[in-house]
Amino acid sequence: MKMRTLTLALVAVAGLGLVPLALAQSPMQVHETRVTSMKDIGGNLRTINESQKEVANHAKIVAAATVIQNHAKNIPSWFPPGTDMAAVANGGKNHAKVEIWANKAEFDGAAKGLETVSADMIRIAAGTDNNAVQEQFKKFGPACGACHSKFRAPLQ
Ligand code: HEC
Repeated sequence: MKMRTLTLALVAVAGLGLVPLALAQSPMQVHETRVTSMKDIGGNLRTINESQKEVANHAKIVAAATVIQNHAKNIPSWFPPGTDMAAVANGGKNHAKVEIWANKAEFDGAAKGLETVSADMIRIAAGTDNNAVQEQFKKFGPACGACHSKFRAPLQ
């Protein structure tokens, strides 16, 4: 009975999102969860790409950029120590280089860079200047690349 109460309490706390990721999940799960979130970033970037040529699509762009912005804020917390590609290889699917933890401030700065590009896009796409939206879209690739080039191993 006592055990059951404890389990329910933990479920309740987890439901509120109060359990730190690193404690709630195994290192393998941490890696798999962040890959899923990264893919969601990729999917939303595709939405922006497909929507960027029409003012009528600006609301869609605001929504997609908001998802990316929220993910970007959380990226630093997706990489607790002990979840690098050497520690948790996952058959070669983990691409998180150990350099992340040796240069955590720079890594977190790259996440902040993506957050800023997204925030600027949200502001710009709230207006009707389509050229400005297209110009802003060009900043996403470099924001991803600034991090991937140094901190993500090449995908097979
Ligand atoms: C601050 C660093 C950082 C930023 C910014 C970042 N990524 Fe990543 N991304 C990573 C790391 C590190 C991995 C590898 C994670 C792993 O394997 O556990 C990754 C993995 C991915 C993956 C999964 C690839 C796979 O199949 O294993 C995708 C897709 C992805 N990123 C897309 C993006 C896109 C698109 C952007 C920009 C809009 C972006 N990322 C911005 C660090 C970053």
